[in-house]
Amino acid sequence: MSTSTDNWETVKKEAEEALTPEIVAFIAECRQEPEPSSRLIDVLHRVQAESGYLSADQLDAVAQLLQVPAATVAGVASFYHFFRLKPRGRFMINICMGTACYVKGADRVAQRLMDELGITWGETSSDRVFTLEGSRCLGTCGLAPVMMIDDEIHGNVTPDQVPLILEEYLQKSRAEQQ
Ligand code: FES
Repeated sequence: MSTSTDNWETVKKEAEEALTPEIVAFIAECRQEPEPSSRLIDVLHRVQAESGYLSADQLDAVAQLLQVPAATVAGVASFYHFFRLKPRGRFMINICMGTACYVKGADRVAQRLMDELGITWGETSSDRVFTLEGSRCLGTCGLAPVMMIDDEIHGNVTPDQVPLILEEYLQKSRAEQQ
C-alpha cells in the first residue's frame, strides 16, 4: 500500500515538473469537476499556448495528472490539426493554397520556400526560425499569391522575393538573440 502511494508521489512529482505551475493548478481545478476528462482539450490548448507545441513528456504528464489514459491523450493530440506535436519555429509561415492564390502561382512560391529552407509542409527549419504550413483562403485574394508570416500579410509574392522576405525575418530573429 505504501509502495503504491510512494510510486504515485514519484509519478505525480515528475508529471508536475513537465508542466508549468499554472497548468498544474488548472488541472487540479479540472479534477474537482464531475468529469475531468471532458476538460482534456482545454488543458492541451493551455499547454500548447505556453510551450508552442505538445511534447511527449507533457502529454504523459497531462494523462497522469488529469487521470486520463495516455492513449486517449495521445489520440486527441494527434487527431486535431490545431495541436502541434513538434516544436515550431520562431516564425510561422502560412502560405495560402486557396484557389485565387494557386492560380497566381502559390505552388511556385511554396516550392521556393521549401528549397530555401530545406523543409516541406509542417516542418521547421534546422535553425528553428521558420515553420512552414499551407492554409486555405486567408481572405485577401486581391493580393494573391499571399503568405502570412505570424500575423503579417505578404501579398503579390513572387518566388524571387522569397529569399529577401526570409532574410528580413532572419534579421529579426538574430536581433532578438542579441
Ligand atoms: S485564395 Fe489566397 S487569400 Fe484567398
